[in-house]
Amino acid sequence: MLTIKDLNASYGAITALHGLSLEVEEGELVALLGTNGAGKSTTLKSICGVLKPTSGTVTFLGEEITGKTPEAILRKGISLVPEGREIFTSLTVSENLRLGAFSSYNKKRYQADLEEMFELFPILKDRFNQPGGLLSGGEQQQLAIARALMSHPKLLMLDEPSLGLSPTLVNQIFDLIAKLRERGTTILLVEQNAERAVHLADRVYVLNTGNLEFAGTPDQLEKELDIADVYFGGDGEGHHEVTL
Ligand SMILES: Nc1ncnc2c1ncn2[C@@H]1O[C@H](COP(=O)(O)OP(=O)(O)OP(=O)(O)O)[C@@H](O)[C@H]1O
Ligand SMILES: [Mg+2]
Repeated sequence: MLTIKDLNASYGAITALHGLSLEVEEGELVALLGTNGAGKSTTLKSICGVLKPTSGTVTFLGEEITGKTPEAILRKGISLVPEGREIFTSLTVSENLRLGAFSSYNKKRYQADLEEMFELFPILKDRFNQPGGLLSGGEQQQLAIARALMSHPKLLMLDEPSLGLSPTLVNQIFDLIAKLRERGTTILLVEQNAERAVHLADRVYVLNTGNLEFAGTPDQLEKELDIADVYFGGDGEGHHEVTL
């Protein structure tokens, strides 16, 4: 479904991705892991068009989308829930959801989609007319995910959805991701919570300072890499010399 080949991305003089190649098949949940600054968000930004890669290609459903605008890429069916949620705090829950549906607005379908969101996220029904800014962190995260889903993405990308949430809310978010995956949503998940993400994932990529360090299944990862290394950034004892 999504194929990234030899992607390089930089911020001025800082190169954040060095020739990254990665693939997501339809129906898969792929986890993208790595320590702070590894290039995870940069990867998602390059896919959704917020950042123009310096070289390499992004192909989605057989069409090259490298360098297209974020709007064009959203219309093709890729939706990003960015790090830090970025909901509109002064707009109501209702207005936030309405904005998420902008690219495919159809009144009948919109109502049906809302009902579906209320089923997935009951809190959004209770808070429908309240400003997004009055929601708790976990509720805002649910709103951000619901907003992304309103555009009927073929590929949903989540950037650290559990960041800053209490353990209970983290559980809720992971339950929700599992539910979305069961419904057949293809997901590219960036997480600091490596163990939880690996547990859910079909396949895993690990980035280290812009380089791909591991690509494989959770089983392979467990065998070949100490999970603590992924979480804490490695111990320098050679655990990272993984070739697949
Ligand atoms: N807007 C920016 N301007 C300059 N450098 C940036 C910018 N955004 C990211 N970087 C740099 O690019 C590299 C990759 O950053 P990125 O945000 O992709 O990491 P990340 O894996 O998402 O990390 P985190 O887990 O902290 O979110 C880092 O060295 C970072 O400092
Ligand atoms: Mg990030």
